[in-house]
Parts: sequence; C-alpha cells; structure tokens
Amino acid sequence: MKKILITGGSGLIGLELCKQLIEKKFKVICMDLPEQLEKNKILFRKVKKNKNLKILNGSIFEKSLLNKVISDVDVVFHLAAMLGVKRTEDNKLKCLEVNIKGTENILEACVSGNIKHIIFASSSEVYGEPSHNPINEKTDTQGKTVYGISKLAGEEYVKAYSQIYKKLNYTIVRFFNTYGENQVSQFFLAKIVRNIMSGSDPIIYGDGQQVRSFCHVEDTCRVLIEIVKNKKSYNKIFNIGNSNEKYTLNEVAKIAIKTLKKNNLKIKNLPFTKSDRTVNREIFKRFCDVSLAKKTFNFQPKISIEEGIRRISKNLNFHNDW
Ligand SMILES: NC(=O)c1ccc[n+]([C@@H]2O[C@H](COP(=O)([O-])OP(=O)(O)OC[C@H]3O[C@@H](n4cnc5c(N)ncnc54)[C@H](O)[C@@H]3O)[C@@H](O)[C@H]2O)c1
Repeated sequence: MKKILITGGSGLIGLELCKQLIEKKFKVICMDLPEQLEKNKILFRKVKKNKNLKILNGSIFEKSLLNKVISDVDVVFHLAAMLGVKRTEDNKLKCLEVNIKGTENILEACVSGNIKHIIFASSSEVYGEPSHNPINEKTDTQGKTVYGISKLAGEEYVKAYSQIYKKLNYTIVRFFNTYGENQVSQFFLAKIVRNIMSGSDPIIYGDGQQVRSFCHVEDTCRVLIEIVKNKKSYNKIFNIGNSNEKYTLNEVAKIAIKTLKKNNLKIKNLPFTKSDRTVNREIFKRFCDVSLAKKTFNFQPKISIEEGIRRISKNLNFHNDW
C-alpha cells in the first residue's frame, strides 16, 4: 500500500484525511507544528496504536527533516499553509513565506525523494470575485487577497516543477469553503454555531446576501482518497466543494437557528467596519461547479448543511482559536 506524507496533517482537512487514509489501509505520516499536534493530542491518543500512522513533529521549513521523511514516501499531500482572513491580512509577509517558500521547500524535497505525485491544497480564493458563477476550473484566476495570491503562486510553482521534473505528477485541488468539527472558530460556520449554542444572536457582516457553497470535510476527503488512487488525477486542477447546496450567509444562519432549535434568536447584520475584514476583502458571490471531479471520480457530496451543523454543535470544545 502507498505511503503518504501529509503536511499540515493536524489541521481541519489533514485530520480527517489521516483518518480516512488509515481506514483504507494506507500508511500515513502526519506532519505538523508541535503546537498544533498538542491541540489534537486527545484525538491522536485514540489512534496512537495504529501501526499505519506516524505522527511527526516538524515544520515545512526544516529542509533536512523533509528530505529524510520524503525519501521514504510515495505521495505527498501538501496542506500546510497559513490561512484565515484576519491572520493572513495582518501577517502578509508571513503568509507569502509559508504558502510560497514553504511550497517550494516541499517541491525541492519531492524532487530529491523521487516522488511521483504531489497533491497541492489550493483555494477558491484564486478566483477572487469571480467573473461568473458557478465557477469551473477554466474560470479566470485573479487573486484579490494576499492569501489568494500566495495560493496562485504555489500552483504555478507546482506546475513548473512538474514540467521540469517529468516524474513528478501533480494534482491541484481548489477547496471551496470546507468546514467541519475541528475548525477554528474564526471561520463562518464554526463561529455562528458557537454563537447560537451559547444563546447569542448569530452575527453576519454586511447584508448577508453573500453566496457560498459549504462542503463538509468528510466529503472533501472522500474525493481526496480517489485522487490518490486514480492516475486520472495526474497533472490536473479540480474544484472541490459542494455544488448541490448554495446558500446566502443569511440563509445558512437561519438554517442553523432552526437546526439547533434556538428559534428565539435573530440574525444580526453588522457593517464590515465592525468586523475583522474590510469590505474590499469580501467575496460577494462564489459557488462552485465540480462537474470535473464528479465526472472523473464520481464525486458526490453527501453531508447536508443541517447534518454538518449538528455535527459541529456536538464538538464545541475544539479549536477556539489559533
Ligand atoms: N478549510 C477551507 O475552507 C480551505 C479552503 C481553501 C483552501 N484550503 C487549504 O487547504 C489546506 C488545509 O486547510 P485547513 O482548513 O485544514 O487549515 P488548517 O489551518 O486547519 O490546517 C493547516 C495546517 O497547516 C499547519 N502548518 C502551518 N504552518 C506550518 C509549517 N510551517 N509546517 C508544518 N505545518 C504547518 C498548521 O499547523 C495547520 O495544522 C490549506 O492549504 C488551506 O489553505 C482550505
């Protein structure tokens, strides 16, 4: 069975990916920063005895460690990144360093380790405020934020390395609003569920008419497993998200109030000046077309927003902050 390195393996997507890969009997090295591994030690304790999982304390800036680890794996999932609106806008240079230089480090190690397949986590942010919706992989890219630009640069690096080093195949996955139980509470769904559960009105910045498609991390990772298994994923870009469900933020908040049976609460729409983002940073309408992933891997998201909200509400203890 293939041996797989996941950088950023203790993040929202990394944790679920580790779980699903182990279930499918892959051998997994889950690499992340010590503070992040510490946050998830309770989760890791449950799977510690699984001989197919190795937890590695390390950074994508430790080149000799990377070279050593990668020499022993077949596939690399490069998920490690700096993300989050406020965090990346407040730390622009750090964002560029982690997301671009960090990606270059991984690519260098992939070349020295003769890796055949790297899967790079990109983002719907590369489409900026899209020229049209739903967005397919051919929609123009036009990063609007430092984070979007860092992901575009990462994508270009990945393609360039694969062009020079022919043995290195890539898959670029552009995630659209992925959420789940282990997400930090700065993200929209985690934040409003926490608000509602604590009896506070959910707060939405702007008029709440911003449109999104939200995909539960379990669905996201099911397609990532197919990408590892199937060579049809080589040297392609895929949008990954839930195109079955498209909602305004106000609609999501209403669904959350109803699902969590807190009908006394009311949505509070506040101006962007009261938020952690400026109006210039906001994307107003973004939802995905995932026909390519559907056609190639038979990808079909299964978890409804109601079910996802219920799952978050049962896991309120994790990741209050970065
Ligand atoms: N969640 C989403 O909605 C979403 C959307 C688009 C793209 N993405 C991308 O998917 C990937 C995973 O996202 P996530 O939601 O799991 O985020 P996350 O923040 O939960 O996970 C990222 C992980 O990377 C780790 N990391 C950061 N710097 C590192 C370093 N120097 N060395 C090793 N590890 C480091 C963090 O500790 C964290 O565990 C990221 O690349 C992100 O940009 C996520």
